[in-house]
Amino acid sequence: MNTAASEPTRQESPQAEGLDPALNPPIDDPLLEIEHLSLWYGNAQALRDITMKIPRNQITAYIGPSGCGKSTLLRCINRLNDLIPIVRTEGDIRFEGESILDPRFDTNLLRKRVGMVFQKSNPFPKSIYENVVYGLRLQGITQKSMLDEVVERSLRDAALWDEVKDRLQERALGLSGGQQQRLCIARAIAVEPEVILYDEPCSALDPISTNKIEELMLELKKDYTQVIVTHNMQQASRISDLTAFMYLGDLIEYGKTDELFVRPRKDQTEAYITGRFG
Ligand SMILES: Nc1ncnc2c1ncn2[C@@H]1O[C@H](COP(=O)(O)OP(=O)(O)OP(=O)(O)O)[C@@H](O)[C@H]1O
Ligand SMILES: [Mg+2]
Repeated sequence: MNTAASEPTRQESPQAEGLDPALNPPIDDPLLEIEHLSLWYGNAQALRDITMKIPRNQITAYIGPSGCGKSTLLRCINRLNDLIPIVRTEGDIRFEGESILDPRFDTNLLRKRVGMVFQKSNPFPKSIYENVVYGLRLQGITQKSMLDEVVERSLRDAALWDEVKDRLQERALGLSGGQQQRLCIARAIAVEPEVILYDEPCSALDPISTNKIEELMLELKKDYTQVIVTHNMQQASRISDLTAFMYLGDLIEYGKTDELFVRPRKDQTEAYITGRFG
């Protein structure tokens, strides 16, 4: 049976609507441009024709129910999905105009420019000091004065210096969960990336540690473009400039955070942010 007539055409699908300039926030001079990005794990499609621009020196939040593709999309931005053999992508992501999904694009260079902080803080079983300088050591930097300087700058920027300056040689795994997460941020910024991706960075933290990370992210805006996946609506509305709502692999709505939370344009967005599904 020919089902083509009953299937939504590209023009009718939510993602195609998402391309409507009236439904996307105007972003001049974006750092990242995601264009018609689709992704499959084997035969299962996880991202459907996502198009959106990510502005520099702002915080962009991805929200949406579990399994809608937030982490998958985040991992496209530093090509971490390359490590999963069954993944296939279509479309493109441009970083300062350059296609990063091009197989010839150097992923080591990309991951230096795009740092990542995960849900579960993952310090290495090394000292606090060695965690921070890890990326520099990979680059072959050995000069102690330079490493010392980076450690202090990164830990200060990650709002952790005062708590650890007297025990830099102690094991990182002896830090509290919130301190470990700030150490992971220090490790990410030590190599001076341009973008920091956060995948639910506060979901294992208490409110005080969460608040510290949020304040830190607001502080880091002056130097970094930040993209965060969060299940916490209050967090998205507190810290993000732009919010993207995803559902079943589609980008349903993308807009300024204060507008999206106050006047969502799509029924699905409204249902989600008011807790009626998800
Ligand atoms: N490594 C993988 N192999 C196969 N399928 C995967 C893999 N990772 C994710 N998926 C599938 O892709 C879809 C999107 O998953 P993803 O982890 O991106 O969702 P999410 O929005 O981050 O969810 P959560 O809020 O639970 O973290 C899901 O259907 C998931 O089962
Ligand atoms: Mg996820």
